[in-house]
Amino acid sequence: MKYISLFIILLIPLVVNGKEEKKIEMPPLHHVVKVKPPEDMKLPKEFPLNDEGQIDCKTCHGIKDIEKTPVNKVNKKAHNFHRGGPYEQLTDFCANCHNKKDYKRPNIHKLLDDKGEFDKKDCEYCHKEAPDLKKEIKRENLKFRLPSQKICFGCHLKTPHLNALNHQVKPDKKMRKRIREAEKKLGIILPLDNEGKVMCATCHSPHQPGVIDKKKPAGKQVADTDLDEGVSYVKHPWNKVFQSDKKARLEKLSQEAGSVYTLGYERIKTEVLLRLPARDGALCQACHAFEK
Ligand code: HEC
Ligand code: HEC
Ligand code: HEC
Ligand code: HEC
Ligand code: HEC
Ligand code: HEC
Repeated sequence: MKYISLFIILLIPLVVNGKEEKKIEMPPLHHVVKVKPPEDMKLPKEFPLNDEGQIDCKTCHGIKDIEKTPVNKVNKKAHNFHRGGPYEQLTDFCANCHNKKDYKRPNIHKLLDDKGEFDKKDCEYCHKEAPDLKKEIKRENLKFRLPSQKICFGCHLKTPHLNALNHQVKPDKKMRKRIREAEKKLGIILPLDNEGKVMCATCHSPHQPGVIDKKKPAGKQVADTDLDEGVSYVKHPWNKVFQSDKKARLEKLSQEAGSVYTLGYERIKTEVLLRLPARDGALCQACHAFEK
């Protein structure tokens, strides 16, 4: 499967200083390297290929000798870390080479046909076996093709938006209590991964509305638009809470996430695939107690 290759940790053999071959471990989920761009892919002229005409470290990274630097020593804050950067969104970097339209991945979330029915094969893109919706479902019995906290990568970036990465931590005891109370009070689920950490599917439902009965906690989700429009903005997301947060904190986040976030955020206009609305802060408040 095309996307799966992105999950593989590449081991790139390197000749360091003419000495022995030393293996540097590539970051997990890294982009493919050492492939020739297809003919119809036009790279900007500032993006140099290697001698074999392939994309290589220097094509995408403006960092000198990045291939000889251990991953944790690479300065990801450098403007030229992504060549031509800094970029406000990683997808803007991708668009240097990938045509936004051609580069449409299948929208796996669109699971229902005109009659409201689904094809089990689509479920089995993520689930090992399509869950039988007529039966009582126990979370422990769900089996996935990849650990559920990894299932979104490959199609989505590790940092699709501000905070996505920073949220992949284990909530403390107080927050876990708050989460359980919110689940009960609001009749929803906020599932944590098998290590008790927040994951993409904690905040997002991966299913098109209607796949799981809306009366069930797992079927409750925000959908004030269809999956074709998707999330859209006027001016400002992660607003309210976010603005009360310190600018320094934001900068810290940007640095850690390795891309640039500005304060000029937009407000969410339409929301889909979320377990609670974020627009009014309800989602955030299921876990956080923010000062009013
Ligand atoms: C086609 C473009 C491209 C090529 C070629 C490329 N990279 Fe990257 N690299 C990226 C992108 C994009 C990211 C950031 C991924 C993210 O944030 O999810 C990245 C991230 C990294 C990171 C930081 C990862 C982390 O999580 O801390 C290192 C280190 C790195 N690349 C090294 C290399 C090396 C070494 C090579 C050559 C063998 C290489 N890259 C080739 C696009 C590329
Ligand atoms: C310097 C040009 C360049 C940039 C920048 C770039 N790519 Fe690519 N990408 C390529 C080339 C070349 C290929 C291999 C040819 C192909 O599959 O079309 C490729 C292939 C891919 C594939 C298919 C991988 C596979 O295993 O078949 C994915 C997914 C992808 N890129 C995602 C991204 C994302 C996401 C970004 C931004 C973070 C990005 N690319 C940035 C050049 C680039
Ligand atoms: C993009 C990946 C993906 C696809 C496609 C997908 N699911 Fe899921 N599904 C998940 C994840 C992730 C969870 C786990 C959430 C959790 O940990 O509780 C889940 C959980 C479930 C649950 C359990 C909900 C509960 O009560 O906790 C059911 C039922 C389910 N899926 C049914 C389906 C059906 C039916 C299909 C096909 C029509 C489908 N899924 C397609 C990712 C997917
Ligand atoms: C703490 C809750 C939370 C977590 C965890 C989270 N998201 Fe989100 N996500 C949101 C909210 C809220 C939005 C709505 C728009 C916004 O605020 O940026 C969103 C929007 C999105 C969008 C649409 C962005 C756009 O601009 O079109 C994608 C795609 C997405 N998330 C994927 C992911 C993936 C993949 C992960 C896991 C790496 C993840 N999210 C983790 C809350 C979360
Ligand atoms: C097979 C690829 C694939 C997988 C796996 C996948 N997605 Fe998506 N997802 C898409 C596509 C395609 C879209 C449509 C919007 C786009 O092109 O970015 C989308 C849209 C979304 C959106 C709405 C963004 C919008 O503006 O429409 C969210 C949120 C989202 N995905 C979350 C997730 C989460 C959470 C997971 C893992 C449980 C996941 N996705 C797994 C391909 C995928
Ligand atoms: C499922 C629970 C959950 C949800 C929902 C949630 N968060 Fe968080 N959030 C956490 C956890 C866990 C942490 C990490 C521990 C901490 O900093 O308290 C965190 C940390 C943060 C941080 C600090 C990040 C840092 O590195 O300093 C901010 C800012 C934040 N969340 C904002 C939000 C916003 C805005 C929303 C709503 C869109 C939201 N959160 C939704 C659980 C959640």
